[in-house]
Amino acid sequence: MSTMKEAIIHPNLQVTIEDAQIPTPKPDEVIIKIVFAGTNPIDWKGADEVSARAMHGDLENPLHKNAGKDMAGYVHSIGSKVFDFKLGDRVVAVNHSSGFAEYGVGPAHTTAHIPDGISFEEAATTGLAYITAALALYRHLPLPEPWNPAKEATPLVIYGASSAVGAFAVKLAVLSNIHPIIAIAGGGGDIIAPVLRADKGDILLDYRSGKEALVKSIRRVAPHVKYVFDSISNEETVELLTSVLEPNGSIYASSLGGSQLKIPAGIQLEIPFAPGLWEPYDPAGPEGPKSPNIAPRAFSHAFFGYLSFAWSEGLIKVHPHKVLPNGLASLEEGIKGLRDGKNHGLKYLYEIAATPGVAGRS
Ligand SMILES: NC(=O)c1ccc[n+]([C@@H]2O[C@H](COP(=O)([O-])OP(=O)(O)OC[C@H]3O[C@@H](n4cnc5c(N)ncnc54)[C@H](OP(=O)(O)O)[C@@H]3O)[C@@H](O)[C@H]2O)c1
Repeated sequence: MSTMKEAIIHPNLQVTIEDAQIPTPKPDEVIIKIVFAGTNPIDWKGADEVSARAMHGDLENPLHKNAGKDMAGYVHSIGSKVFDFKLGDRVVAVNHSSGFAEYGVGPAHTTAHIPDGISFEEAATTGLAYITAALALYRHLPLPEPWNPAKEATPLVIYGASSAVGAFAVKLAVLSNIHPIIAIAGGGGDIIAPVLRADKGDILLDYRSGKEALVKSIRRVAPHVKYVFDSISNEETVELLTSVLEPNGSIYASSLGGSQLKIPAGIQLEIPFAPGLWEPYDPAGPEGPKSPNIAPRAFSHAFFGYLSFAWSEGLIKVHPHKVLPNGLASLEEGIKGLRDGKNHGLKYLYEIAATPGVAGRS
């Protein structure tokens, strides 16, 4: 059998299930027989963006092809340069696309072993959100990695702490002994409260209490803040967070880029951008735009290896999740739910074998 089913997200967010070829691996990839796929905001935002580009006539094919980034399943085939996976391994992977299908492509550096005790369902909540949080803390903020934990107080504000990205940032920060953590969330805040260490000064604030109350609470815990990570990034969050940062030498890291972020001159703006991990070249590398993408690839290898280790040691929990019915047939409902902000502290998942037209449940 060389064909499979895959889901295509159209610019109006309508989803169709279509036939496609099972992918074959490039030298540094594995092909995964997907058991569970997960969705991220980019899955609907990407379709929107494609739609806008198509309207301006600069895109031939307006379909947002099989956009899925997060997938968990069994290694089905292996590229010639892959050294750390074998056929049948249970893995989770994140990629630019290809995850809304029976078979997806896992780049070796953004694929991780799933240890016993972690289900495919749980693993599928991690990929993109986990690595974006890791990029934010350890490549864009100069914070100590979990294997070299902080030895002194390092206040860190994490806005959007109940979002998948924000929650993984909180979990990683705790593993790095970064405290006090000032976590800011709304209705989903309950999911992150148990991770915080009140004994080390961490607090959970509700963004609905308003700017004045938030600034007061942040200053009480941490009069001098040099680092924030904002996984929401709108006009209000920028205004709030830049007002608590030290006016010079501090860093505002945001999971969203764009010229809409008005950051005061003394504060450095950093934007972790996970898709950069799959570019063949690193424009910021020492040799300019043609610099081999070694450092980002090495970073991902290290952090996906760490994810497997942290799971097997019981150090890190997955994101709360909900499996939508009928596999990819619910993808449209899921991405529209993300667009409409229905997922408070929740990742939507899809069991591929439950998709109509896909044979057999794993
Ligand atoms: N740069 C990258 O490579 C990259 C990678 C992944 C994601 N992202 C971006 O990062 C952002 C977060 O992604 P995600 O996957 O973590 O999202 P998510 O899990 O879907 O986020 C849902 C959470 O967002 C919070 N939220 C929504 N609107 C808010 C607002 N106005 N103020 C405060 N909180 C708000 C809600 O918190 P409450 O329930 O507590 O209200 C909700 O729990 C998205 O914009 C996404 O596109 C960027």
